[in-house]
Amino acid sequence: MDNATVEFIHHFEAGDGVTLLLLHGTGGTEHDLVGIGKVIAPGASILSPRGRVLENGMPRYFRRLQEGVFDIEDLHKRTEELADWISAITAEKEIDDRPIVALGFSNGANIAGSLLLSYPGLLAGAMLLRPMVPFVPDELPSLNGTRVLVGAGTHDQLIEPEETNRLVTLLQTCGASVDLYWQPGGHGLGQGDLDQIGAWFSQQAW
Ligand code: MLT
Repeated sequence: MDNATVEFIHHFEAGDGVTLLLLHGTGGTEHDLVGIGKVIAPGASILSPRGRVLENGMPRYFRRLQEGVFDIEDLHKRTEELADWISAITAEKEIDDRPIVALGFSNGANIAGSLLLSYPGLLAGAMLLRPMVPFVPDELPSLNGTRVLVGAGTHDQLIEPEETNRLVTLLQTCGASVDLYWQPGGHGLGQGDLDQIGAWFSQQAW
């Protein structure tokens, strides 16, 4: 890893096939999604960085001005740091020839969305659970061939249905193939989410 690359505290497990990039929600850690990742993609490599920004002691991937209002400059900077780190660590672990599929929840879904929009081709796919529109690029990237699953809550306290639909339309306009499911309930994840992402992941030929 070169000196310019910022280091992330992380959990890594070597496996076969795809690499699952796990991105936790605000206040989470690199351990939060490991159990889910292993259920949906047994035997996959696991790469799970902890967000480097602290909000009242809670790890996040980028700063926000208030709930749902992002510090866009910081978002771009942190997205670049994360993309560089992913490239460096996958090369170091000799898995840089394998597809990377993100599984992100809430703040983790938002940085995954930002990775998709800023670094097309870095991720082969992404499962975005309770995501928002991270930002709208001036020039839309080409996401042809990128597969995305969006998991929304019908009664999410943080995210209006219009926001979810706006994200789906944005990603589709970039050429991504997007599936969307609505889970009865709020911002938190339930068993229904696990069933949905497990079924979707296993249907994809990565
Ligand atoms: C964000 O800041 O990314 C969203 O508000 C979701 C969250 O609370 O983490």
